[in-house]
Amino acid sequence: MNAPEKYSPLVRWPAKVNEIPKEVFFREDVYQLELENIFYGPEWHPVAHTGELPNKGDFKTINVGERPILVVRGDDGDIRTFYNACAHRGNLLETRVSGNAVEFECPYHRWLFDLRGELRGAPGDDDFSPSYRKEDFGLPAIRSAEFMGLIFVTCSDETPELDEYLGRVKDALAITFNGDGRLKLLGYQKVLYDVNWKAYVDNDGYHAPLLHAAFKLLDWQGGKGEQYSTKNGHIGFESELKVPKDTGFLKDPTLLQFKGTASSKGSAIASTFPITVITKHMDMINIRFAFPRGVGQTEVHYGYYCHEDDDDEMVQHRIRQSSNMLGPTGLVSMEDASIFHRIHVGNHTPGNVTFQKGVKHEDRIWYDFKQNDEAGNLPRWEHYRQSLGFNREEA
Ligand code: FES
Ligand SMILES: [Fe+2]
Repeated sequence: MNAPEKYSPLVRWPAKVNEIPKEVFFREDVYQLELENIFYGPEWHPVAHTGELPNKGDFKTINVGERPILVVRGDDGDIRTFYNACAHRGNLLETRVSGNAVEFECPYHRWLFDLRGELRGAPGDDDFSPSYRKEDFGLPAIRSAEFMGLIFVTCSDETPELDEYLGRVKDALAITFNGDGRLKLLGYQKVLYDVNWKAYVDNDGYHAPLLHAAFKLLDWQGGKGEQYSTKNGHIGFESELKVPKDTGFLKDPTLLQFKGTASSKGSAIASTFPITVITKHMDMINIRFAFPRGVGQTEVHYGYYCHEDDDDEMVQHRIRQSSNMLGPTGLVSMEDASIFHRIHVGNHTPGNVTFQKGVKHEDRIWYDFKQNDEAGNLPRWEHYRQSLGFNREEA
């Protein structure tokens, strides 16, 4: 017998490609399907940049969906990725967000793991089951790959090779990483937004000069630029910013100073499906690692970076600019935050949301957009719909 419609994970998807059903933003059954088919499915998820783990023993924890991940630079210098769960009874192994360790000890029964994830010892092991072998109980590894120092993991064996998976968005990624990916970590800020993860990442090119007073100041809309999407839901922006000549109205005009480098454009954004946003605006290099905390919350870890070749003055400049513009105290991010909760509440109403700006077709998907179009998000929605197996209604 079929379950009643309201408990069914099936969603009727509108015929027009620029309409999205609001129910996907709050239905618990849809969220569970997203975890299975997207977060644990054939997708790559950025979990760290090598610049965050410069020394042996450096580690970082993060989530893919609701699965905890541990990234460690071993005593041999290699970076490895594991599920952050004890190989014994599954206790969450490391609870810190980042740090340096010589080993990882699980507090429950004191099993001890080294920096390569091998089990070194387990109290009372002379009394263990007949089939027990120490070498079978290393930390559970997760498949990983790297692009310009950005480390990705995937829960699936079927995910294509990373190079093919990223496709054209590699261009925007390379710009955000200053052309070579030789980055150093400046610091992190963590935020919990009261919004479904898809509305968080649905932030579009249309809103930038309209919601954001800071971007308006930078003449975002008047700058040259392009936006492109890939079939599997990544989005790239490459834009020039026009920094105003007179910034005397600011107490500290260096906030809007663009020092730049040989490889830099004013602004580049690489948004990889499903949820990671990597940006370079002026001199701020920022990776927003994110994951859902249930259907109604999204946790974002803002990582800020400088380039290995930066002098002290440039490092200070990047810190000043990043902390004033982005993250929980940032002029730009606070404006997004104010919208996130409102959009989450508003989405608990019947019907569909619509996309309009830059919509050239309503019956098919395309991949090239203007920088301030919202339609650039539509290929991502199409990939989402297909990943979850929702059928589009007949036109
Ligand atoms: S669960 Fe970790 S040592 Fe038992
Ligand atoms: Fe925004």
